[in-house]
This record gives sequence, C-alpha cells and structure tokens, in this order.
Amino acid sequence: MFSQKRIVLGVSGGIAVYKAVELLRLLTKAGADVQVVMTRSAQEFVTPLTFQTLSGNPVHTELFNLYQEKEIGHISLADGADLFIVAPATANILGKVACGIADDLLSTTLMATKAPVLFAPAMNVNMYENPVVQHNLTQLRELGYHFVGPVTGELACGWQGTGKLSSPEEIFSMAQALFAPKDLAGERLLITAGPTREELDPVRYISNYSSGKMGYALARAAQQRGAEVYLISGPTALPVPPGVRRKSVVSALEMRDAVLAAMDYSSVVIKSAAVADYRPRQMATHKLKKTSDDMRVELEKNPDILAELGQVKQGRILVGFAAETRDLLAHAAEKLARKNLDLIVANDVTQQGAGFNVDTNIVKLLHADGTVETLPQLSKDEVAHQILDRVVRLLGQRPGQS
Ligand code: CTP
Repeated sequence: MFSQKRIVLGVSGGIAVYKAVELLRLLTKAGADVQVVMTRSAQEFVTPLTFQTLSGNPVHTELFNLYQEKEIGHISLADGADLFIVAPATANILGKVACGIADDLLSTTLMATKAPVLFAPAMNVNMYENPVVQHNLTQLRELGYHFVGPVTGELACGWQGTGKLSSPEEIFSMAQALFAPKDLAGERLLITAGPTREELDPVRYISNYSSGKMGYALARAAQQRGAEVYLISGPTALPVPPGVRRKSVVSALEMRDAVLAAMDYSSVVIKSAAVADYRPRQMATHKLKKTSDDMRVELEKNPDILAELGQVKQGRILVGFAAETRDLLAHAAEKLARKNLDLIVANDVTQQGAGFNVDTNIVKLLHADGTVETLPQLSKDEVAHQILDRVVRLLGQRPGQS
C-alpha cells in the first residue's frame, strides 16, 4: 500500500519526537519514500542524522538554506507528497496552520501542500484542554485535516490526562486508512480471530498457538476500506483496531453463540479463528489434583461453526481458513466444499514466515470455482488486503450486482 508513495513526515518539537523515529521505520519498511522536515525545536530532542539515516533521504530543516532549497525546495516537497504526516504535532504548529502562519520550513510546506495532512498531536494536558487549542483543532477538522490521537495516559511532563502521542503503530494504521480504497463501504463484516480456550478446571485449559494477528489485521483492513466490522475474538493480547467493534469470547461454544447472533446482520463472514475442535466433557469445579501417575481426559466434539454457517448461507460471502501441516491443497479444498465456502485461505503452518504468532504469512487462496492462487510471503496486513480484494470481487458478482 505504501510502495511508490511519497510521504512527508513533519516533526515538531516535543519529548515524543523519539516516537517519530519508530513511525519513520514503519513507513520505510512498508516501502514508502519518506522526506523528513524537522522544526528547530524538534532538533533539540533528536538529531536530523537519525532521521536521515533511517529515511535514506536528506532531512529538511531550513527555509532559507541555499543548498537545501536548491536540492529540493519547500514547494517541491509540498507538491511531491501523497500524504503529509505531522508527528508529533505541537500546539504551536497546529496553531500556525489554523491561523495561516507560514514562518519556517514545516509551516510553509504545510501551507503549500495539496496532499492530505494527518496530524498526530502531542502536548501537556492543560495545553491540550486550552480553549484556544481546542478551537484550532475544531477549525482544522472542519477544514478537512485528519487527526490521530492524542491519547490519554501518563504524560512525559508527569501529568495524567489527554495529550500523549498515539503509538507509531496507530499513526501508521491511520495513514494506511487514508490510502485505502473505500470499496467495502456499506458492507457489514463479521470476523472471528484468535484461539478458543476449553476449560479443564478453574486453572487449566486446552487451546492452540493462534495469536489472533491475522484476524485482527483483517478487521483493521476492512475497517480502513469502509466496512462496519464486528470482531468476535478469542483470548489475545492485541488491542482493538480503531473503529472496530469487538466482542471477547473464551470457548468455542461462546464463539458459536456470538457468531450465530450476529450473522443475520453481516454480508460477509471471515472465520480466521482457530477454534478448538474438542472440549473436555466435564469441567472440574475444583483444581484437579495429581493423585495418580496417569490421567485421562474425555473430550467431546465442538460444533463446527463455519460448517453451520455454510448450511444457512443465503447470499452471504463465507471465507474460511485452513491451517495445515501436510497435504495443504487437498485438505483446504475438502473444507471449502464441505463448509460451502466462497473462498478458503490455506497456509502450511510449518513453513517459516507463515502461521501462528508471526507477522507474515504465506497463503494460497482457493476459490469455489476451483481456481487456486499462490501469494508470496507478505505481511499479515498485506495478506488481509489481498483477501479483501477477493471479497470485494465476490460481492460484485452477487446476483443483482452489475
Ligand atoms: N472452524 C469453525 N469451527 C470449528 C472448527 C473450525 O468454525 N469447530 C473454522 C475455522 O475458523 C476455519 C475453518 O473452520 O475457518 C477450518 O478450520 P480448521 O481447524 O483448519 O479445520 P477443521 O474443520 O477443524 O478440520 P481439521 O481439524 O480436521 O483440520
């Protein structure tokens, strides 16, 4: 999504400047060409050399510098940008832009750009709550400037409150959203993610290695593409993607109830959760004691949620996952047919860079018409967008759609 994209990263002065370094790393890793503009006060916190090394481009600091203006002037910076991000954005730079003041390189470039601008404000809570700052923020929002954060938490100045810079991941995700096509607007997506846990006793459970990362990436990407997303998640440590509604569940039976209750409202269901196939027949009320040398646990089968959905599918698009350790295509094709799916995302979890708990995935996409597509190793965010591209195509092929 970021390859071939030119991003200007404006850095204004505040203790959160160090987080802009991490943001820059995320952007360049995703393939963006980033030009960094630093204000004079930003350079008091982190040197331009750090940004220069990580961006691979010279850092722009001065409006009236003969060399910098000759190499790439502020107007070319402004013209060449596909997106302008200001992180951290101080009360000062927000105030300047709101009032049309252009008196240094960053404010002048911001004034001259026609690219979308994303501000990530960071400041002391009292500054943030100051009616003058609030007035400027309202005005900028009305003028079409985009915002991410600030968030609430412990601030570097020792105060507790709103004013903290959003995490680099959140800023990155918002930037992604600004580039995403809104081709899922008006659609309701039900996505399941993570493992389920089947309790043995009050302190033990049966589960699997699923981290939920693939399902959360799907939820984030679908939301960015304009869908209303309902995420039903087994236990994970992942934060709720911005704009996504999440319901947390623990066991397969709880997930089934939640999915069946929500399916009528969904035009697309993507089941990326790793549902435990069996649960202990009995859940002990007290902690099991090691009284004998061996122990047997009797298990009973959990309902296959996706197969149930397949039987009452109607016009819905159903997407499943198949995590396998051998005979990938044969198993995936069998599940696609048995569960009445439109698409199944198959991955061999024994491959390095695929499967549970990593940030990348290597998948094959099997379609109901027998077509098989092989995707290269991609980040889970990219895999999510690839899957959603297919979902958009399937939605377009529904009867009554031209
Ligand atoms: N699934 C489900 N409910 C279950 C088991 C699986 O909804 N009880 C869904 C998963 O979310 C996934 C797909 O079915 O989208 C395939 O899951 P997988 O565990 O790979 O396959 P199973 O049908 O459980 O078959 P097996 O365990 O024999 O591989």
